Amino acid sequence: MALLMLIFTKISELTGYLSQINAQNKTVGFVPTMGALHDGHVSLIRYSKNTCDYTICSVFVNPTQFNDKSDLDRYPRMPEKDAALLKNAYCDALFMPLVNEMYPDSLLKENYDFGYLDKVLEGAHRPGHFNGVAQIVSRFFDIIKPDKAFFGSKDYQQVMIIKALVKQMNSSIEIIACPILRDPDGLAMSSRNALLSKEERTTASRIPQIMKVAKNLTATKGIKEAKLFVEQEITTVPSMKLDYFEICNADSLNTLTELTSQISAIALIAVYVGKIRLIDNVELN
Ligand code: PAJ
Repeated sequence: MALLMLIFTKISELTGYLSQINAQNKTVGFVPTMGALHDGHVSLIRYSKNTCDYTICSVFVNPTQFNDKSDLDRYPRMPEKDAALLKNAYCDALFMPLVNEMYPDSLLKENYDFGYLDKVLEGAHRPGHFNGVAQIVSRFFDIIKPDKAFFGSKDYQQVMIIKALVKQMNSSIEIIACPILRDPDGLAMSSRNALLSKEERTTASRIPQIMKVAKNLTATKGIKEAKLFVEQEITTVPSMKLDYFEICNADSLNTLTELTSQISAIALIAVYVGKIRLIDNVELN
């Protein structure tokens, strides 16, 4: 069967296509990405295809969400490979705009207030990051106006920010959080994994192992012990540096000091392996 996936770089062309879909009263699912796609991204396309008539994916390395210029410069870019992968996943359309299409000089860049939510964890360690994410996602939402948008729980805090964003936008877009896809050794799939050397990739497999032990320790000995274990464990590996490890209320991201049966809890980690910063999380109850 011949596969057809439309590729758009201009907003005007994409909106022309979208108005044809709207005229047929069909639903649109949207999967925003920054490319260097892997099976985790493809799983989001599958979730969208399962529940929406049309699936649109964006590939755009959004400069405003990078607080570290060298991270932006080294971010992996492989548009042809991404397009082939999406075509194989039967994605209907790919939107790959240039920076000045999404951020024309005339566009006022919004400043968002997410209160506590963007002051902790990724928000605290990557100043301005979530403001940049909100800027680009709200712009995509305004252009595409999807019925549903699909996000990975690997970026747990990002999903919470996006849910807060649609509330602020008074938007009816349904935000769907999808499970984390992992490599066979447990490492959460990430575009940044491609930047790891062979040795660093081996070291990175310690992250899910450490998280698993931390989860058990939290249940048996408590949060303090679990935190101590993670800190000590990571200090023993010279090429690893802990950015944060926190156990939080999964609904508010407030830091927890003890587990209770009434509160769902989540452990979240950010860790450098060499120069590459990786994040992961695991639900605790
Ligand atoms: P990116 O890191 O490319 O991720 C795109 C989407 O894929 C996000 O929703 C992310 O959580 C999801 N994802 C990444 N790894 C995953 C995995 N192992 N399993 C399941 N889903 C996974 O997140 C961004 O881009 C950007 O911030 C973006 C939302 C596109 C805004 O620029």
